[in-house]
Amino acid sequence: MAILSFNTKVHFGHGERKQLVLESAKLGIKRPLFVTDKGVRAAGVFARATETLSEMQGAVIFDQTPPNPTEDAAVAGLLAYQENRCDGIIGVGGGATLDLAKAIAVLCGDPAPLWEYCNRNASPRPIINPPPLILMPTTSGSGSEVGRSAVIIFNNGIKAGVGCPTIVSTAICDPELTLTLPKYMTAATGMDALSHCVETFCSPLINPPIDAIALDGLTRLYQNIERAVTDGSDAEARWHMMMGALEGAVCFQKGLGAVHSVSHSLGALGHHHGTLNAIMLPHVLAINAPVLQEKLPLLCRAMGLTPATDLVKLFLVLNQKLGLPSGLKELGVDSSSFQTIARASLSDNAHKTNPRTLTETDYCSLLSSAW
Ligand SMILES: [Fe+2]
Repeated sequence: MAILSFNTKVHFGHGERKQLVLESAKLGIKRPLFVTDKGVRAAGVFARATETLSEMQGAVIFDQTPPNPTEDAAVAGLLAYQENRCDGIIGVGGGATLDLAKAIAVLCGDPAPLWEYCNRNASPRPIINPPPLILMPTTSGSGSEVGRSAVIIFNNGIKAGVGCPTIVSTAICDPELTLTLPKYMTAATGMDALSHCVETFCSPLINPPIDAIALDGLTRLYQNIERAVTDGSDAEARWHMMMGALEGAVCFQKGLGAVHSVSHSLGALGHHHGTLNAIMLPHVLAINAPVLQEKLPLLCRAMGLTPATDLVKLFLVLNQKLGLPSGLKELGVDSSSFQTIARASLSDNAHKTNPRTLTETDYCSLLSSAW
C-alpha cells in the first residue's frame, strides 16, 4: 500500500479565521511575515482574513507573489523575513501564494539554493529548521494548505515540487474568504481540485482510505462547482468546494497522473495551473480509458451519474458551462512546442503514477487532441 499520512492540523468552517490569533500565540509568532499577493489585498480578502490580528505590531506584508511562484520570489521573501527579523510566516492566498510561503519557510531555516530541496533530486536536502507557518487559503483549488509539497518554477526553468509534508504548523480554512472569488478563478481552481480527486483515484497505487477521500472530494466538487460559479455568495457551495479541495490535496499523496505532468510542464511557461488541468482532464481520461474500465463507473457513481456516463464528453461540456477555454490553442500554447512539453512531462513525478505508461508519442498526441 502507498504511504498514508495526515500531517496538518486544520481548522475548518465559516468564520474560522478567528483562530488566527490563538494559533499565532500558540506558535509564538509575534512578528509574522505575511505572504500574499496584490490581487488578494486589493480585493479586501487579506484584510478580512487577518481582521482579528489588528493589534499585532510589527507585522510585515510581502505581497510580491507572482501568478506562478518562482525561486526568485522565494529568495525575495526570505530577504524580507530576515531584514524584518520575523519569527513566523502566515500565508494568505491561493495555491501560488501558499506554495511560495512554504518555499520561503524552507529557505528561512536552511541554506539556499532551493533546487537542492526539489524532489527531482535523487537525494533532496532535508528540511531541518523551518519557522512556524500558518496557511489560510482564499481559493478552493490546490489544497496547498494540506498538500505535501510546494510547486515552484526554479531558475533552471523546471516547474517541480519541494517535498515539505510537515512544514505547515496549522491550516485555517474559512470558506467565507472565497465568497468574493471571481467566477473564472472559482471555475479554474475548482477544476484543479476536481482533477486531484480524479487523478488520485485513477492512480494505480493501492490505498483504499485515500480512494475513499478522493471519491468524497469528487462528489462535493462536482455537485457544487456550477453552483459556486453561478452564485459566488452561495456559502454552502463554497464550504463544499473548500472541503473538496482539502480532500483532493490530502489524497494526492497516492500520486497524480498525466493531467498534472502536462500541466506542470506547460505551467513552467507561465500558464495557469487550474486552467491547464481543466483542459487536459477529458483528454487524459480518454487516453487512459482502456485501463480504467473498473474505475470509471465508480467515478460516475460518486458524481451521481449512471455508471456508463461518458466522462470525457461530460468534462468537455462542463468546461464550456464554467466559461473555461476549450483547448490549449486558446491559451496561446504553440503547437511547435509539443515535443519539448512531452519530454518535460516524461520527467515529471506525476507521470510515474498515470494509470497507463505513456510514451513521448502518446504525450504528443494527447497535446494535439487538447489543442
Ligand atoms: Fe493541481
